[in-house]
Amino acid sequence: MSRLVPPPLSLYLHFPWCVRKCPYCDFNSYALNGQLQEAAYLEALERDLETQAPEVAGREVISVFMGGGTPSLFPPSAIDRVLAAARRHLTFASDVEVTMEANPGTIERGRFAEYRAAGVNRVSLGAQSFDTRTLQVLGRIHSPDETRRAAEELHAAGLTNFNLDLMYALPGQDVAAALADVESALALKPTHLSHYQLTLEPGTVFAAQPPADLPTDDTAAEMLAVCGARLAEAGFGQYEVSAYAQPGRQCRHNLNYWTFGDYLGVGAGAHGKITVPDPVTTDAEIVPATIDAEIVPPANARGFRARANDPRTTPGAIIRTTQSRDPRRYVAAPTANRTPVPEAQRPFEFMLNALRLIDGFEIPTFEQRTGLPWETVVREVDELLTRNLLEVQGLRLRTTIVGMRFLNNLLLSFLEETPQTTGAFGLSTAI
Ligand SMILES: C[S@@+](CC[C@H](N)C(=O)[O-])C[C@H]1O[C@@H](n2cnc3c(N)ncnc32)[C@H](O)[C@@H]1O
Ligand code: SF4
Repeated sequence: MSRLVPPPLSLYLHFPWCVRKCPYCDFNSYALNGQLQEAAYLEALERDLETQAPEVAGREVISVFMGGGTPSLFPPSAIDRVLAAARRHLTFASDVEVTMEANPGTIERGRFAEYRAAGVNRVSLGAQSFDTRTLQVLGRIHSPDETRRAAEELHAAGLTNFNLDLMYALPGQDVAAALADVESALALKPTHLSHYQLTLEPGTVFAAQPPADLPTDDTAAEMLAVCGARLAEAGFGQYEVSAYAQPGRQCRHNLNYWTFGDYLGVGAGAHGKITVPDPVTTDAEIVPATIDAEIVPPANARGFRARANDPRTTPGAIIRTTQSRDPRRYVAAPTANRTPVPEAQRPFEFMLNALRLIDGFEIPTFEQRTGLPWETVVREVDELLTRNLLEVQGLRLRTTIVGMRFLNNLLLSFLEETPQTTGAFGLSTAI
């Protein structure tokens, strides 16, 4: 009997196209060449939803996130169609959070009201900076004024629960300029602010040709401290490495990722995670252990395995799903690859998410969401407590301020002894 308890369930929908590819971005996004293949892509999303929905039958979806790429390249009618399909195949909670990412350069007048009518109740706007020259260096398609106009449109449409994405440690930026960006963002009255340190991601233009005048690590640390203090003063509490929110306005969707919750991943390159606790298997459902299948669950005491191609009969499994990254391949075959997360990898995957949270997590959550006893990690945790990188308060464990600075190194303690370089998870603290 495993300890796994199904966690809250979210839905991620990916929209892979952008007007232009930004030189720093390693998301699965592609510059749009010619016409948007709207109908074909929507059809694939619907097929994908239909295929995956039975795996979470009877479970409520607490949040939906439409990310990219640039979902706002799709008209409100398309977003309406996708959300209607999702509601048909899944059960949405009555207070479901539905976020859509939007690029300020793609917003026509009146659009946000239509997105809201389609069911969007939260927006994440990619502002990045309010400095015209910096936006040009970042290859952005919008001006600071277009971001301001998009925020005005959000308020006018009643979509007042919105996030602004800002980046810092940008080429040529000093501490005063980073703070000025935060000030400009606050003036637009968002409820949430994501503040990402620019990282040079492998495979991007910036990684191949790094901008000449990047701030030093010490300057970046000072920007983080100064901007964080200003945000705190404005009533925005930091709850994750890069996330700040007004009270009660934390992003429910991202919180579910960071607490090792479940999510269906739908769309080109989308990742999903589904927990399958102990099945109620009958003898009729078990087959001999020689099956050749993608998911190979552990054999039970009688040398039998649960039917491997049916996730509902996989004992105590956590399944990762991945879709083809290439939109053309995805449209041709929107069928997810499925891989179980071996028990040995679960502590690292859990900690990679939960230790980013300023409040950390409670120990029973670790046991319920990894299916493993706390003893599995007690040695590593003890050592990190001794080094003052983690701290414990009652049943709650969290990263110290020093630990946050060295989060990537700290997380290595939870890696298997012989890590496999699958590229499945990066250790970047900017996501
Ligand atoms: C998918 S994009 C947001 C929506 C839309 N595509 C846009 O850019 O306006 C997610 C966010 O990740 C952040 N980001 C992307 N690449 C980054 C990098 N290399 N370093 C830091 N932040 C990055 C940006 O703030 C970006 O807005
Ligand atoms: S940052 Fe946003 S707009 Fe720029 S390429 Fe990435 S996903 Fe597209």
